[in-house]
Amino acid sequence: MSLNELETYRDAALEALEAVDSGEALEAWYRSHLAPSGQATAWKKQIGRQAAEDRRAFGQTVNAVSQALQAAFAAQKERIRLVELADRMKAEAMDVTLPGRPRPQRGLHPVTAMLREVCEVFEGMGFTVFESPHVELDETNFQLLNIPEHHPAREMQDTFYVNVPDQGERPPKAVMRTHTSPGQIRAMRAFGPGPIRVVLPGRCYRNEDITPRSEIQFHQVEGLLIGERVRMSDLKGALLLFARRVFGEDQAVRLRGSYFPFTEPSVEVDIQCTLCCGEGCRLCKSTGWLELLGAGVVHPNVLRNGGYDPDKVRGFAFGLGIERLVMLRYGISDIRHFAENDVRFLAQFA
Ligand code: PHE
Repeated sequence: MSLNELETYRDAALEALEAVDSGEALEAWYRSHLAPSGQATAWKKQIGRQAAEDRRAFGQTVNAVSQALQAAFAAQKERIRLVELADRMKAEAMDVTLPGRPRPQRGLHPVTAMLREVCEVFEGMGFTVFESPHVELDETNFQLLNIPEHHPAREMQDTFYVNVPDQGERPPKAVMRTHTSPGQIRAMRAFGPGPIRVVLPGRCYRNEDITPRSEIQFHQVEGLLIGERVRMSDLKGALLLFARRVFGEDQAVRLRGSYFPFTEPSVEVDIQCTLCCGEGCRLCKSTGWLELLGAGVVHPNVLRNGGYDPDKVRGFAFGLGIERLVMLRYGISDIRHFAENDVRFLAQFA
């Protein structure tokens, strides 16, 4: 093995390294030269096999060649890293001057917006919001509201019944609440025997055919006020104020005798037709009035069921359909729009 050969090898290896232009090629070069199985390593193993007088010079040259290759390798590695980085930056560059893609900004669902608005109006009169469950006991939804098991008033509210797992005893009968009125009982039990002024917003469920006028789910806001000297005129005043806040300051309201098992007396509250202002039109079916909500003076049995003494306190309650309110305000003729999730409908309220 001559020193000449070593130098020839070194020059060839450096030349090959020079030509390397990618990380992959660099690795291949490393494998054939500097790695344990590479050529430069093979040279080192030859040192011991040289004749004694040549060994020193040979060893020095082998090491020098190896160090030269190491240094050149490190330099080439860094150069390639920079080149590849520059390539990547070019390939992945983005144009920060391009306009972004706008995300559509939408508003609240009209029912949510109306629920909030109604609650706010009553909060302005000192009411607070009280939430109660959607799955109710038959007892709270009906019986404690003066609607016994086979009472014909149940016909007014076709009901979804819920299976309750059998826990040994006879399971209680549960229903999807058909109105927010069971919240009256819950509020009385939460606040009794003190005065109450609450609104109960939320979704209700009835087993209805889905038509332009009826849905299996809809929203109500219930109102309940209990105190020592509560009268029908307080109810009328609160509802008149409410109607004026929502429909305008000159909105007229009328009370019409009606029937609910849990109020006595009971009334139906109408607003003067928002379309014809009382003249009579298709919307109000020529009556000049639109039915808005049911209300009344809380029935003594209901007060008693809530833990109150009907000889000491009185109360009024009302139950307001939110979809109906939105439909009246915007002239919407089909209740099914609310749950269809069609953005063309919803975007109009943004
Ligand atoms: N719960 C009644 C309904 O859903 C409305 C109502 C509430 C009537 C409170 C009177 C008092 O039809």
